Amino acid sequence: MRTDAAQIVRLEDYRPSDFLIERVELDFKLHPAATKVTATLSMRPNPAGRSDVPLALDGDEVNLKSVALDGRILEAGEFEARPELLTISQPPQGPFRLTIETEINPTANTRLMGLYRSSGNYCTQCEAEGFRRITYFLDRPDVLAVYTTRIEAELDEAPVLLGNGNPVESGSVAGTSRHYAVWHDPFPKPSYLFAIVGGRLGRVAKPFTTMSGRTVAIAVYVEPGKEDRAGYALDALERSMIWDEKVFGREYDLDVFNIVAVSDFNMGAMENKGLNIFNDKYVLASPETATDTDYANIEAIIAHEYFHNWSGNRVTCRDWFQLCLKEGLTVFRDQEFSSDERSRAVHRIAEVKTLRARQFLEDAGPLAHPVRPSQYREINNFYTATVYEKGAEIVRMLKTLIGDEDFRRGMDLYYDRCDGTAATVEDFLKAFADVTGRDLSHFARWYGQSGTPCVSVHGQYDEAAKTYRLDFKQHTLPTPGQPTKDPMVVPVALGLVAQDGQPMDAECERVDSRGVFVFDKAEDSIAFTGVASRPVPSVFRGFSAPVKVSLDLSNEELLILLRHDTDAFNRWQAAQTVAMRMLVSLSTGTQASDEDMGALSSAFRGFAQSDALRDPAFAALVLTLPSESDIAQEIGKDVDPTAIHHARRTMRQHIGRACFEPLTDFHRSLARAESYSPDAASAGRRALRNAALDLLTAADPQAGEKLASEQFEKAGNMTDRLASLNVLMTIPGTVRENAIASFEERYRNEPLVLDKWFTLQAAIPEDTTLDRVKRLMEHPAFSMNNPNRVRSLIGSFAMLNQVQFNREDGAGYAFLASIVLRADELNPQLASRLLTAFSTWRMMEPMRRGHARRALQSIAQKSNLSRDVGDIVNRSLEESPLL
Ligand code: TRP
Ligand code: ZN
Repeated sequence: MRTDAAQIVRLEDYRPSDFLIERVELDFKLHPAATKVTATLSMRPNPAGRSDVPLALDGDEVNLKSVALDGRILEAGEFEARPELLTISQPPQGPFRLTIETEINPTANTRLMGLYRSSGNYCTQCEAEGFRRITYFLDRPDVLAVYTTRIEAELDEAPVLLGNGNPVESGSVAGTSRHYAVWHDPFPKPSYLFAIVGGRLGRVAKPFTTMSGRTVAIAVYVEPGKEDRAGYALDALERSMIWDEKVFGREYDLDVFNIVAVSDFNMGAMENKGLNIFNDKYVLASPETATDTDYANIEAIIAHEYFHNWSGNRVTCRDWFQLCLKEGLTVFRDQEFSSDERSRAVHRIAEVKTLRARQFLEDAGPLAHPVRPSQYREINNFYTATVYEKGAEIVRMLKTLIGDEDFRRGMDLYYDRCDGTAATVEDFLKAFADVTGRDLSHFARWYGQSGTPCVSVHGQYDEAAKTYRLDFKQHTLPTPGQPTKDPMVVPVALGLVAQDGQPMDAECERVDSRGVFVFDKAEDSIAFTGVASRPVPSVFRGFSAPVKVSLDLSNEELLILLRHDTDAFNRWQAAQTVAMRMLVSLSTGTQASDEDMGALSSAFRGFAQSDALRDPAFAALVLTLPSESDIAQEIGKDVDPTAIHHARRTMRQHIGRACFEPLTDFHRSLARAESYSPDAASAGRRALRNAALDLLTAADPQAGEKLASEQFEKAGNMTDRLASLNVLMTIPGTVRENAIASFEERYRNEPLVLDKWFTLQAAIPEDTTLDRVKRLMEHPAFSMNNPNRVRSLIGSFAMLNQVQFNREDGAGYAFLASIVLRADELNPQLASRLLTAFSTWRMMEPMRRGHARRALQSIAQKSNLSRDVGDIVNRSLEESPLL
């Protein structure tokens, strides 16, 4: 196995840069294959660094043309240039100007880091370490500089030229067919926030007036002809700007804010100062091409990148170990925004579903790491659910512990103190410690300890004394590199519910006025007095901590919570818990008793009949069973995905039959002829209607096929059309194949819609799917070079299709391994993301586990793996302390 210890970067080794860069002047002469870049860096030794050391600048595949120091061209012996490092052994002791000329080839750049081309347009991606692919630089987030950028291009090739900051000047280059634009960004920033764009782009824009009365031109740039699909993104941007002023008192700081949509992009979007660049999937929307989920994602990601202007850009990270400082906080902020714009309870459930599906999964496997890792080989592999989603949960817990007002005061102090600096997690926590006078050192363990804590809760009622005791225990399983674990500070929001469903107000001195008990030891007990009758405890309301909970409540008691709890999250959770218990029994061979199945079915029927229409979005979530991969995670070892698939189908059938009338009624009555609106209430009605269609079809495939085909034909929007096609996917035959063909025909010129079509087919749980996926790779719309296409077809097969990716014959694993190797030659970031689909391999039963191990080994054996793939494959194979 490859282990090059030398390449490990450690948090404990951090030291300040030996040199500072104060100003950067950049000149780009855009050309498809030979772009010339001249960088003039105003530098000086850092008083906080070492003196008399060489100057070493990072590079990556750049072609050096010349280096000059204070205007004098350096000769061969005065510097050493390697593709990844430019060294000047005797730099000046005082301030100096370094001028570096490089040449790069954006057309050949398939890694999509640095300067590259997408649909003929030029764009950049510099986080985390892409700037060094443009010029040699101190490419680390604690080197902050003021940038001025001149961009020159052929006028007809790139009529639009954008940079960071404010536009300063533009014009034509006399006597040529070229033109130029100059941009100046007055805010010092790290290189990872640098960006330029050049190309043919359409624009939608409007003026925005900030809280202090300044006018900002806000704009979204898209492929010409798609302007009518950019309106929702622009609207979401405006709402985000208003929200950050209102909720966090944060105002925007430049004269322009530009968003550009590109079709080749490694992730969702990027927060470059004043020039956000987006995966077009998270910008473009029309009722005919985007689903309700797409609209919600666009709103959330537009907000996320905008919010980074303060949490990330004005206050940035000292080093990449602090990534959660900007990402966790910004995810928290975008979640709060979406909750305020939509339904808080429904959004919370959606957040927790993704946290469990992605982060708990990560924490339970070979790639588990702390929210703030202490070492890495490849930083790109740490843009994870743990850093983002669990990072956001930590901020949320902090707010729960200290309350809304102190949280806002702490945020204000953090921004005040750290504005214009590159900060650490310690700086963040110190602001809250100072505002509240609390010691947050125990709480800070959430950043350093990986793994999901398991909390068990046991209740004991004393009839005679009218007291109720709750015993709490916590433990965390070992994770890679962390064999032993400490107890965490776990905020438990809780309440008691009477058997008849009424809330009980019993006394407990350990529970604060906000209903929160702080559980921070391995074991603890709290006691309520004045409890008139045996209560049902409702714990972790709103999912107040990112932990796994085991509760010794009966199904009957849980179903009381489903009906009556005042906390919507726990109503949903109660239904999920009961369903999960039965799904696990069914999947592992112990039949769920008819009695249990009957109780759940009738609870669902009761819910559907009496409750569901009050909040359709919530009802759709209650009526959706845990996913196959959730069930696999719950079982945890010797998993048989086929058994899980059958168990889930059986339960959907039962529930569909038990609720047939109300579901039929939802499907009929929630159909609206009115024109499409993406708002949360309308989306909620569509969600319930489509959840109903799914269950009806499970109960009666023939009737379902008819309903789904009708809906498919008549659908007035993509949400309904795609949902019906999704249901048709469960029924093999000509109706399905005809629908697949008609969808393809209708959207043949819509790459983002064909992505959905790829995804649905890749998820068909039938033995022929692997061949279908291979065939679809030959489809004219598919390309190994485009990350959205690869993720839609191959990523979906590996992540969504539990039965077929984990085929008994190992063919799914072998296929993914071969694709990872192909992708690695083009785009290592894309390849290593696909490879993370293997992170569940140790949970599988022995046959599958053996196949998966061999597939991983076949990758590990290859020479010339990228650092990205090498790192993931090695960690995936390492003997884990879990076993
Ligand atoms: N900082 C970006 C965000 O949170 C994500 C990001 C990191 C990214 N590295 C990237 C995006 C590389 C694209 C490519 O939104
Ligand atoms: Zn982010």
